[in-house]
Parts: sequence; C-alpha cells; structure tokens
Amino acid sequence: MTFGSLTFCTLLFISYAAPGNFSPPPRLIEGRIVGGNEVSIVRHPHQISLRRRTCTECAYLHDCGGSILNEDTILTAAHCVVNRRVSNLMVIAGTNNRAGSDGTVALVSKVVTHELYNASITDYDVALLLLTTPLKFDHLFIAPVALVAAAPTAGAKAKVTGWGTVSEGGVLASRLQVVNVFVQDQEQCIGAYGARITDAMLCAGVVEGGKDACQKDSGGPLLVEDQLAGITSWAIGCARPEYPGVYVNVSHVREWIVSNVAANSMCKLK
Ligand code: ARG
Repeated sequence: MTFGSLTFCTLLFISYAAPGNFSPPPRLIEGRIVGGNEVSIVRHPHQISLRRRTCTECAYLHDCGGSILNEDTILTAAHCVVNRRVSNLMVIAGTNNRAGSDGTVALVSKVVTHELYNASITDYDVALLLLTTPLKFDHLFIAPVALVAAAPTAGAKAKVTGWGTVSEGGVLASRLQVVNVFVQDQEQCIGAYGARITDAMLCAGVVEGGKDACQKDSGGPLLVEDQLAGITSWAIGCARPEYPGVYVNVSHVREWIVSNVAANSMCKLK
C-alpha cells in the first residue's frame, strides 16, 4: 500500500456528530420494509441511502439502498444507477433516517456497472459507486460489510434492510427497517418466476408471504450470518406468498466485485 492510499483510506476527518445518532433506541413498530421492524444503523453500519436528484435545482431524495465495502466503495444495484449522471447521486452513511441532514454525505466520482447487466431481465444487477472522499469508519455508525465466500444454502436465515416502502404501493419508511426471511432453493425460485431466474440471482422470502423488501430497498443488503449474500433487485409486487424477493447472488459476482474494487478503489476490501 502506498503512503497516498494509506492516508486517503484511513485519514481522520473532522465529522460532525449526527444528532439523530444519539437519540434513544427506537421503539419497535410493526409493519415496515414489508412486515419488518425498526432497527438501529448501529446493527447495520454498512447500510447507506443512495439519494438522487432529478434536476440540478432539485433536492436529493432517497432512491435506493447500498452497502459499504470499504472507505471509498459502495455496492448497489445496477438498475439504481445506469443512465444516471454521477453529479445527481449522493450517498448518506451513518444515519437511521431516510430524509433530513443526519449522517455523513459522500459524493460519487464514478459508477462501475457489471458488463453483463441486462435490464430486460434485471440480470447481473450489480454496480460499484466510487466516492470522491473516503468515509471515515467509526465502527459504530459507519463500517464495511464482508462478502459471503460461498452461496448460502437453501433455508438459510437472512436479513434484509432498507427505507423502502412498507407495503406494495405504500409509503417509504422514515427510519431504517429490517425483516427476517429465508434463502430459497433455486428450483423453488424458478418455480415462481420461470426461466428469467439466472445463476446470478437468488430468491428469499417466507412461504406465507407478508415479509419482503419492496420499492426503494433495491441495491441494499441481504445478510446471511452478517455477511453480504445478496443485493435487493426485483420481484413481482412485494411480500406476495407466491412471489419471493429476487436478489443478486453475491457469491456468483464475488470475483467481479473483488477485481473491480482492486481496479478502481484507492482502498482495500475488508
Ligand atoms: N426493484 C425495486 C427497487 O428498485 C426493489 C424490488 C424488490 N422487491 C421485492 N418485493 N423484494 O427498489
């Protein structure tokens, strides 16, 4: 590692404390993400909100989720960033709140989209965001997540987080939500969606429905044993018993992530 990258990746920035971070732990409220609960960013310090503005004069609003891989790299869904100007994107780390001025702001210098991303079937729905200034890890509100080494087994317990809508067609959550789901067998996933399911995808849900990611959770993490196993990508509706959530299978794109972080980031993967 060069002195330059050492400084860039570990430099102590003077950051103001986000007031919301020091409020008492939130009460649990039913029915968010879909069928989830409020959770503190302290339990998911890799979760970011990807905000976007639709014009130069417009406000940056929550659009997608994402996960911190290292000081200057965010993993998100390709469909969240393709055909977007980097100047219209903004990453907010270290806050429980979807909107407002809490948290640490980082701007995006570059988007790296998977070469095999196919919008027509949402295949290889993975992209990296390179940040103009590195995030300062405090290991409490802002920290990286590790990638799974191997694909999770069918039936594995998983957690999905985000500020997405709390029901199909519903309103966005104000505070970060988590829901517990199970990784599904690939055959079951193909049973639900047919041939548009590829090896770069995995399904997760609950048989009875009612628990799922939903709109604007996209790009955010699916964790298995606290490691990143999936990226929220697509589904038919939200939390329908017959249609599980579809995620990028992180183990399938792991080598792409590792080599593209090495090629584009100033910092090492955690
Ligand atoms: N594509 C959606 C988005 O852009 C996320 C879809 C996930 N839906 C689901 N039911 N799991 O936010």
